[in-house]
Amino acid sequence: MNQTIQAISSVSGTISVPGDKSISHRAIMLGSIANGKTYVEGFLNSDDCLSTIRVFRQLGVEIEKVKETSYTIRGKGLNSLKEPQEILNVGNSGTTIRLTSGILSGQSFHSVLTGDDSIARRPMGRIVEPLRIMGAQIDGRENGKYAPLSIRGNRLKGITYKTPVASAQIKSAILFAGLYADKETTVIEPYLSRDHSEKMLKQFGAKLNINKNTITIQPEPELEGQKIIVPGDFSSAAFFIAAALIVPNSLLRIKNVGINSTRVGFLEAVKAMNGSVEIEDIRYYGVEPMADLVIKTSSLHGITISGEWIPKIIDELPLLAVIASQAEGTTIVRDAIELRVKETDRIKTIVSEMRKIGVKIEELKDGFIIEGKQYIEGGRVSTHGDHRIGMAMAIAGLVSKKPIIIENTGVISISYPGFLDDLAKISKS
Ligand code: S3P
Repeated sequence: MNQTIQAISSVSGTISVPGDKSISHRAIMLGSIANGKTYVEGFLNSDDCLSTIRVFRQLGVEIEKVKETSYTIRGKGLNSLKEPQEILNVGNSGTTIRLTSGILSGQSFHSVLTGDDSIARRPMGRIVEPLRIMGAQIDGRENGKYAPLSIRGNRLKGITYKTPVASAQIKSAILFAGLYADKETTVIEPYLSRDHSEKMLKQFGAKLNINKNTITIQPEPELEGQKIIVPGDFSSAAFFIAAALIVPNSLLRIKNVGINSTRVGFLEAVKAMNGSVEIEDIRYYGVEPMADLVIKTSSLHGITISGEWIPKIIDELPLLAVIASQAEGTTIVRDAIELRVKETDRIKTIVSEMRKIGVKIEELKDGFIIEGKQYIEGGRVSTHGDHRIGMAMAIAGLVSKKPIIIENTGVISISYPGFLDDLAKISKS
C-alpha cells in the first residue's frame, strides 16, 4: 500500500494516541507468570504486541480480549507455562523475542523462537551470552548470534552482568531470567535505558533494588496479578508533537501520554530547540506517569544530542532528523550506533530517505548531521519495512513543496495501526 502525503496549512484539535508498546508487551508477559488475574486496559493492539499475546497463548496462558483495548490474563504462577508444540513466531518484534527468551530460559522445557527477515538480522548474542552464563542452553544461527533461537531452560544461576550497551531489552531479559535464579541477579547498564520492566516488576511484587544504573532482583517472588492501565505511547505521540511544531499556525492537544522520564528524551530535545510544548495535569494510574501535552508551532533551532541522552530518545531519532531539517542551524546526533541494529539500520534508512526528498544530511558512523533550515522538495520514499521510518516520512510530507509518496505503509501497523487516520484527523488543509 502506498500513501501520498502533502503539505497542509495547520495541525489542530485534540487527540489521544494508542497504548504504550513497551508497557503492553510487559503487561502480557508478567501477567502470564503472575498468580491470579491481570487486567490490562489501554493495551496496544498493534502487530508487535499481538505477537506477544500469540506467543504466550502458545505457552498455554489464557488471555482473553474483553473490550477493544482491554484484556484479562489468567496467570498461574512463575512455573506454569507449558512446552509449546509449535515454533514461537514473534513477527517483527525485538522486544518479544528478547524479553520472552529471558522467561523461557528459566523453564523446564524446550522452545524455539523465530521471526521475520528483520528479526533474523538483529543481534541476539547480546541476550544469549548473559542467559548462557546464567545456565540456559541457548543456541541460534552463528553460535547464538542470530535467531531462530532454541532454548532449553534450566534452574538458573544469579549473576552480576555489565551490559555492553544501554538496552532495556537486554536488561529486561536478564531481570526476567533472574526471577528463576538461585540467588540475586544484578544488571549494570552504561546509561539508564527505559525502566518499564523495573517499575512493573515492582508493581507485581518482585523485590528490586535500584541504584542509578545498577538493578538487583531477588529470585522466586510471589508475583500477584495486577490491574495495569497503559498510558498513551510517547513514541507515537512524538510524531504529532513534531507535526504541530513544524506546520504553521498549529495548536494541538494530545491526551493521556506516558511521560516516564526514561522515555521523554525527544520532549527534552524539542524544548531545547525552542519548541513550545506544555505538560499539563501530570497524574499516575499505577506506576507510570501520564499527562496531556499542548503543542504550538515554534521557530526551532539546532541541537547536539549524545551520550546518556541517546537511550531516552532512541526510537525518535529518525523523526528528529525531520524536524532538524526545519530548524535553524546545525543538529548533530552522535553515540547512536544502536540505531544501526533496530528494525532497519535507521541511520542508513533515514539518511537515504531524507536525501530522496531533497534534504541534505551527513551520515556519521554513530549518527548524523543536518544543517537547517532546508526546503523539503518531496518525492517517492520507501519505509524499508520499518514503521518508524514510514511515520517520520509522513511528517516530512506535511511541510513538503511537492507531495511525498510513501511505499509500503502497511508496516506502520507494527506500532500504530491507526496512524494515518489519526494524522488526517488533525491535519487542516
Ligand atoms: C524497547 C527497548 C528499546 C526500543 C524498542 C523497545 C523495549 O530497545 O528501541 O523499540 O520495549 O524494551 P533497546 O532498549 O534494546 O535499545
